[in-house]
Amino acid sequence: MKAEGPAMTAPLPAPDPLAPPLCDAQGRRMTYLRLSVTDRCNFRCTYCSPASWGGKKDLLDAGEFERIVSVFARMGIRRVRLTGGEPLARPDILDIAKRIAAVPGVEHLAITTNASRLESLAGPLRDAGVTQLNLSLDTLSAEVFRRISKQGDFEAVLRGIDAAAGAGFQSLKLNVVVMRGINDAEVPELVTYAHARGITPRFIELMPFGQGTPVPTAELLERLAASGSVLTEEPQESAASPTSGPARYWRMDSGRVGFISPLTQNFCGGCNRVRVASNGDLRSCLGGRAQAPLHQLIRGGATDAELAVAVRRALGEKPEGHRFTEAGNGATLLPMMGIGG
Ligand code: 5AD
Ligand code: SF4
Repeated sequence: MKAEGPAMTAPLPAPDPLAPPLCDAQGRRMTYLRLSVTDRCNFRCTYCSPASWGGKKDLLDAGEFERIVSVFARMGIRRVRLTGGEPLARPDILDIAKRIAAVPGVEHLAITTNASRLESLAGPLRDAGVTQLNLSLDTLSAEVFRRISKQGDFEAVLRGIDAAAGAGFQSLKLNVVVMRGINDAEVPELVTYAHARGITPRFIELMPFGQGTPVPTAELLERLAASGSVLTEEPQESAASPTSGPARYWRMDSGRVGFISPLTQNFCGGCNRVRVASNGDLRSCLGGRAQAPLHQLIRGGATDAELAVAVRRALGEKPEGHRFTEAGNGATLLPMMGIGG
């Protein structure tokens, strides 16, 4: 019989807090960082409520974003998305994008934007190393656009989307937040508009941050079928990768269509993402409260290892725990949460 009990009493070496994987308390492996680079926006969409509408100065500079991303990349983050507010409202967005795209380990750099500044920025962003854009457009009617965005420039957005379509990005998506009685009747036209430009449209169930009534994904699928589209659901395994988002995709003759259904499908179980707000606070979840003040730590002179320890703590991981190696053990992690923003 084999002897039980510890044969050796030497302490295990402390694990390197910067070594991957980065897991949360449930063992979900984090591979995707969403970084809000500003809380300002030049639009005032009725369904959205960024922390400030303008005026306030952005706190973190390009070098600090680069530092945060490099720490996360060392811990296993492979995909980064810049969000806002409106990320292109930052005058130094090209510098930020260039620095982050060059961080070792970052394989994909995406931006979610309202497209209003893309006519001049699409090419330079592509050259800076941005691989993917998610463009927000809820309607093809100038009047409805004004009702939704309040002060957006519809023509500039359309020109921006065309510029993006011609700029050679790996992937372009069109995010449409669907609101009953406002833009739900436009779903088939928006699919046609996007596919004509090589863009994948994605219809998002409205989350209750502002005004408006959501429309369940199932109803949109019925409407598309009623308008003559033949839709085939893509298998989840192929639609999802450890770095993908929460959308489910369907195939039609003219291209793919995605649906993000925070209300009618719970995808939090497959969460692979971590968020950093524009003030540098790490949030383990969209709904969660700030849990690690990364900006304060950086300005206080924290080392990369100290930042990594703070990140792990905030995600519920004991910094000295050996669960680093057993958590996230190869299971395919389906994407989780998220709205386009
Ligand atoms: N519900 C769903 N999606 C939202 N977004 C913003 N607010 C909401 C909301 N209440 C997403 C949209 C928008 C992007 C910036 O954020 O996709 O295009
Ligand atoms: Fe700005 Fe996007 Fe919010 Fe509209 S949805 S106000 S464009 S951040």
